[in-house]
Amino acid sequence: MYSKIVGTGSYLPEKIVTNQDLEKMMDTTDEWITTRTGIKRRHVASETDTTANLATRAARRAMEAGNVQPEQIDMVIVATATSDDAFPSTASRVQHQLGLRHVVAFDVSAACAGFNHGLSIADQYIKTGFAKMILVIGCEMLTRAVDWTDRSTCVLFGDGAGAVLLGASETPGLLSTHLHCDGSQHHILYAPNTVVQKNADSPFVKMEGKEVFRHAVTRLGELVDETLSANNLTQTDIDWLIPHQANIRIIQAMAKKLNMSMEKVIVTLDDQGNTSAASIPLALDIAVRDGRVKRGDLVLLESFGGGLVWGSALIRY
Ligand code: ACO
Repeated sequence: MYSKIVGTGSYLPEKIVTNQDLEKMMDTTDEWITTRTGIKRRHVASETDTTANLATRAARRAMEAGNVQPEQIDMVIVATATSDDAFPSTASRVQHQLGLRHVVAFDVSAACAGFNHGLSIADQYIKTGFAKMILVIGCEMLTRAVDWTDRSTCVLFGDGAGAVLLGASETPGLLSTHLHCDGSQHHILYAPNTVVQKNADSPFVKMEGKEVFRHAVTRLGELVDETLSANNLTQTDIDWLIPHQANIRIIQAMAKKLNMSMEKVIVTLDDQGNTSAASIPLALDIAVRDGRVKRGDLVLLESFGGGLVWGSALIRY
């Protein structure tokens, strides 16, 4: 038995904050943000939004796209670094909001690589026959997790959610997943839980940007090689690259590594900023709906984030 994507969906909050808006709020410029990151604007959740609500909206769209009914879903996996509660999981709220059966629902904590981790877990459950249809969601409200007086982090992030339904299939869809962690670099990208860590000064994202950048380019390069070699493929076999959307220069480096034109790379960073675990399913859904990614295409998803963690998934869509 194999797994394949049967439906995709996404949700972005209506409110948009542009780089020009940020210029009025802090000592920054559109030019700095654009040239350093590629980001032009980001979507920001409203006061009344919750991470679970964003996730549920994306999930509903995936269910409509795949024509999947609530009773068909066997499991909910939510990847998020910004869960509404320390416990229970965002997945449990989503399960309830969608009116699903009492199926297993849990969150995955792997920062910006969380969605690929969720896909990998879902794939294992489908291959073993434990589940036939799994909802995998990446959702974040990172704009709540940054210090809006820290210009080096707050300009980078945005809010949103993306979802896929992974279903059992006779033919291969999800070809392979590859996940890694280097916990020794925990300190270069993290957000402390100040309820538990009494000595932490604030709960906001802390990042040594240059170090993260350096590790990201190296590890993602290795990951591309690992994924191609595990599938006996070469660069030219890949139809689409859907990278985590953190920085256009990291994305360009991966396109170069794959000898791929940027036209074959799905980029949403300019419009959305870094939406962490949501960025890959958001980009996938956009590319499926606008007709770029078609059934049968070979799609490489790759991500990198706090942990450090990094992961890929190769998909015959
Ligand atoms: N506007 C204007 N100036 C700024 C801003 C800003 N928003 N932010 C920082 N600066 C200044 C700094 O103060 C510094 O000034 P100085 O030279 O006078 O000290 C200067 O710009 C350069 O700062 P750097 O941090 O060295 O800039 P860098 O070129 O490294 O770019 C960036 C920073 C964009 C964050 C980059 O390092 C990056 O993208 N890193 C990777 C981020 C990433 O991939 N994260 C992964 C996932 S996130 C997750 O897992 C949740």
